[in-house]
Amino acid sequence: MKITKICCIGAGYVGGPTMAVIAKNNPHIKITIVDINAERIAAWNDADVSKLPVYEPGLAEIVKETRNKNLFFSTDINTAIDESEMIFISVNTPTKTFGKGKGMAADLKYVELCARNIADIATTDKIVVEKSTLPVRTAQAIKSILENTGNGVTFDILSNPEFLAEGTAIEDLLHPDRILIGGESEEAIDSLASIYGSWVPQENILRTNVWSSELSKLTANAFLAQRISSINAISELCEHTEANVNEVAKAIGMDSRIGSKFLKASVGFGGSCFQKDILNLVYIARSYGLNEVANYWEQVIIMNDHQKRRFSDRLIKTLYNTVSGKKIGLLGWAFKKDTNDTRESAAIYVTDHLVSEQAHIAVYDPKVSAVKIQTDLNYLNTRTEAENLKYVASVENPYEALKNAHAVAIMTEWDEFKTYDWKQIYTDMKKPAFIFDGRNILDKSNMEAIGFEYYSIGQ
Ligand code: UDX
Ligand code: ADP
Repeated sequence: MKITKICCIGAGYVGGPTMAVIAKNNPHIKITIVDINAERIAAWNDADVSKLPVYEPGLAEIVKETRNKNLFFSTDINTAIDESEMIFISVNTPTKTFGKGKGMAADLKYVELCARNIADIATTDKIVVEKSTLPVRTAQAIKSILENTGNGVTFDILSNPEFLAEGTAIEDLLHPDRILIGGESEEAIDSLASIYGSWVPQENILRTNVWSSELSKLTANAFLAQRISSINAISELCEHTEANVNEVAKAIGMDSRIGSKFLKASVGFGGSCFQKDILNLVYIARSYGLNEVANYWEQVIIMNDHQKRRFSDRLIKTLYNTVSGKKIGLLGWAFKKDTNDTRESAAIYVTDHLVSEQAHIAVYDPKVSAVKIQTDLNYLNTRTEAENLKYVASVENPYEALKNAHAVAIMTEWDEFKTYDWKQIYTDMKKPAFIFDGRNILDKSNMEAIGFEYYSIGQ
């Protein structure tokens, strides 16, 4: 099938950047990204590209170049579905918060709604591409909804999981290690492969069956997260011995069988994928009665929760076992640098714990709004919204956040944190002045020379 029009349902962190890069490389294809969230669509259409709802280095430039030429953002979902030959489903699939599989399984209601919407509207044959991370065998569910509700139209379902990492999404999309396409119909696979083929070499486009493709996505994320939990486990051991986790990571990373990436010890991984995908894997394994498999992967999450908790425990213990009434300056709220995404960010959990101990938190993040910070905390339901507001303030200026603070906690590895005037910060803080560097971005000896009591991960 020759593709001339594409519709992407879901204008989020995956749909937005992915379609922008496809549009840039396929000027002959009209791409419409639709969303039920009108405010989000309006932000994507804002003349001022610094107001786009997703912050990603390089994204604004591509949107500027393609928007209203062959890339469109709209709330008119039905028209976009009807006119397109290919439809990407890029909606969110959060972990269920109720009922069977609560806290583990993926909530597929948004995906199902999309499938029903497509079935209702489609009058011509369509290729439906699942882009959202989904549990294995979701394609089957989509297929069954489309075939049983659709009006005689043929649907080909493809699984085309996204491997972009936030903060480097554009770079990852422009130079992917591989593109994975799972499906039954060779013709449909060819159609999608030719779209990617306009900038990705064909040998980097891998074709598998649908189930392998779906499972590969979960497995890739589980392996990546496992590396972080593994090095974080070693970081705790380092803190009890004379070993330094940075040195250990370097030493093992030089073994080409292990490799050097994803060995940065941290306050714990966050993001919309790792935890969710592993929980999915665990849930699926358990549903097949594979308890050893489930327990094996679940340990990656248990280790990550432990790492976040022991960071705040150590801070409290070091501050003479109480943070009540003390001011803690928090640098960074996003789950990693170069993104405004905060989903599952370690900062949320560390703050929640410190507030339960009655600490006053002043947060500075270069890209995260004050509203978002409060929403993240309120979502945990630990206390009232008024209490969260009372204990947690967002500050526009980092020096303000750290003024008169008893301690600094670094939660995100934003580059700008390294270049601050730490001497000035030291002067303005309460003494002894403590730094808890959850990302190991500052130099221990420099900080100690200034006068700080410096604590980091695994050193
Ligand atoms: C991840 C996968 O990398 C990507 O392929 C998939 O498509 C989606 O999930 P993302 O969550 O955007 O991407 O970011 P990633 O760079 O993987 O980081 C995840 C978390 O791990 C972040 O909180 C990051 O700070 C943390 N991390 C990463 C570490 O703590 N140490 C590391 O060495 C690497
Ligand atoms: P991701 O990181 O997977 O891209 P996001 O939450 O950033 O997740 O984006 C998903 C988007 O999908 C949201 O903007 C949400 O409003 C949109 N969405 C969810 N369900 C539907 C639906 N049925 N139709 C259209 N858009 C939807």
